[in-house]
Amino acid sequence: MKQFLIAPSILSANFACLGEDIKQVLSAGADIIHFDVMDNHYVPNLTIGPMVLKSLRKYNITAPVDVHLMTKPVESLIPKFAKAGANFITVHPESTNNLSITLQNIRDCGCKSGVVLNPNTSINCLDYILDKLDLIVLMSVNPGFGGQCFISSTFDKLKYVKKKIQNSSYKILLEVDGGIKLHNIADIALAGADILVVGSAIFNSLDYISVITSIRKKLDKVSKIINYI
Ligand code: DX5
Ligand code: ZN
Repeated sequence: MKQFLIAPSILSANFACLGEDIKQVLSAGADIIHFDVMDNHYVPNLTIGPMVLKSLRKYNITAPVDVHLMTKPVESLIPKFAKAGANFITVHPESTNNLSITLQNIRDCGCKSGVVLNPNTSINCLDYILDKLDLIVLMSVNPGFGGQCFISSTFDKLKYVKKKIQNSSYKILLEVDGGIKLHNIADIALAGADILVVGSAIFNSLDYISVITSIRKKLDKVSKIINYI
């Protein structure tokens, strides 16, 4: 059966007790930690850097960490995040002068590489970089803030990119980021997502176990449907 991965975005976590908050979502059943890095330049918000990731690793957080870089320039941060303990590092095409070289740099640092496409970014660039990708992230909100509404045109993009991956010889994971809630997560998984980033819907709830269990149940149902098809 297909195993979907739940990736809480720590943008909506309590930064006053980040390590503890992360341990709680992991013990409630989350698979991957989604680490949003914003520079107040590429996006109008400012968050956290590699020092925070290093501290989380020291705090015995061993789960895979997916670092989403929303910074411009982006290049010099890649080795720093790799050294701090990142597993996946993803970049936006608009943030680098040479996307292909930047993706190769991520792999050379020992991490899985990914590209993140904004809602209004064309998927055409994928044709030239498929061999450099372990992960494609489709933004379903404009990057910068948690708690926004899911942009529904993502569904068509998602189905199209899923087919593109399936028709290629590459093993590339597909992630969707932004506006994912209990009411739309099953449709997003059914349309082709492998990794579901969920921020505010998890961290704004009072009971992580109950919300992640409900998400898992929805995803398990989708796995059964996919198995059946
Ligand atoms: C937006 C971030 C997302 C977002 C997800 O720029 O990349 O990871 O915070 O949070 P929700 O689930 O609240 O949209
Ligand atoms: Zn993100």
